[in-house]
Amino acid sequence: EIRSEQRRFVEFKAPGIADRQPVKEPLATGLKSVDSMIPIGRGQRELIIGDRKTGKTAIALDTIINQKNTGVICVYVAIGQKESTVAEVVATLKKHGAMEHTVIVSSSAAQSAAMQYIAPYTGAAIAEYFMYEKNGHTLCVYDDLSKHAIAYRELSLLLRRPPGREAFPGDIFYLHSRLLERSVKLSDKLGGGSMTALPIVETLEGQVSAYIPTNINSITDGQIYLQRDLFLAGVRPAINVGISVSRVGGAAQVQAMKKVAPKLRLDLASFRELQDFARLGTDLDEAAQKQLDRGYRMVEVLKQKQFSPMSIGQEVISILAGSSGAMDDIHVGRANHFLDEFMMWLRLEAPEYVE
Ligand SMILES: Nc1ncnc2c1ncn2[C@@H]1O[C@H](COP(=O)(O)OP(=O)(O)O)[C@@H](O)[C@H]1O
Ligand SMILES: [Mg+2]
Repeated sequence: EIRSEQRRFVEFKAPGIADRQPVKEPLATGLKSVDSMIPIGRGQRELIIGDRKTGKTAIALDTIINQKNTGVICVYVAIGQKESTVAEVVATLKKHGAMEHTVIVSSSAAQSAAMQYIAPYTGAAIAEYFMYEKNGHTLCVYDDLSKHAIAYRELSLLLRRPPGREAFPGDIFYLHSRLLERSVKLSDKLGGGSMTALPIVETLEGQVSAYIPTNINSITDGQIYLQRDLFLAGVRPAINVGISVSRVGGAAQVQAMKKVAPKLRLDLASFRELQDFARLGTDLDEAAQKQLDRGYRMVEVLKQKQFSPMSIGQEVISILAGSSGAMDDIHVGRANHFLDEFMMWLRLEAPEYVE
């Protein structure tokens, strides 16, 4: 039983344009690849999309863990998951000291479709309490909205509403738009709080153009696209940088990151092009070979283990180490080891840079 002294409506009208202001503070995920190339700002809605077991939940959990000591209150909404999976998530967050600032809302697969349907709105209402009444910053993770849509479809079919595309009811777009519109960076008049949303969508066989994924994609301010083959090849987080974007977060990026990030994106793009050439067996000139070698190292630099969030300083230094060419002489297989040791050395010798 949960005792409460206060109540809020589960459904709440999203603030209008006059009550908002542009996203301007960063919400650091602690992940090198995200904070550099797909930066998220407080009040932004960023979709995490990919097949099952590609690391979607992992990115959300790392982001929650990274909010420790930032004052950001996190709400993790589990929709239609197994109860044991949710228990694991709670255990993980506890272990990393993140339950202090996190609220879990769970409506498991064993519960009715109606409960699964209201779960994300409930999560948003809890975040709204902190945002409107405490002027706080909040982060909502909806894991995942594909299952949410399926629960709503079940309800609608039971109510004999006419089914449309993929048997979803006609108002399925409104289901998610009215949820995600509640994410906001509030105006100073309303206290300047924020609700950042990380909705998660699970695709089948990489089908990003299916009905629900395209709907949600059009409501969010960008997407982090996770790819199965990258994941299996050991590139983790398995982010396809080419088609992942953040439409507003760049405004909130710190200056140092703004400097190193554009070059990183360009380097990776030309690396992928060269890689395709090299696969055809084309002889590469020296400059191209060099760029290729650099690219392999950058891919290594962007790999990151779970539960090892980095400060922005550490991220910038890692990226700079790769893109400046300082790591060109280091064997690709040892690149990560080198970075770990380099960070350790920095922490001892020049801690002011990594904090
Ligand atoms: N960066 C990473 N490094 C190593 N393992 C990872 C990483 N990200 C995810 N994993 C592992 O991959 C598996 C699937 O991740 P998960 O986040 O549950 O996927 P999804 O939510 O997409 O189904 C988990 O066992 C998780 O521990
Ligand atoms: Mg998951």
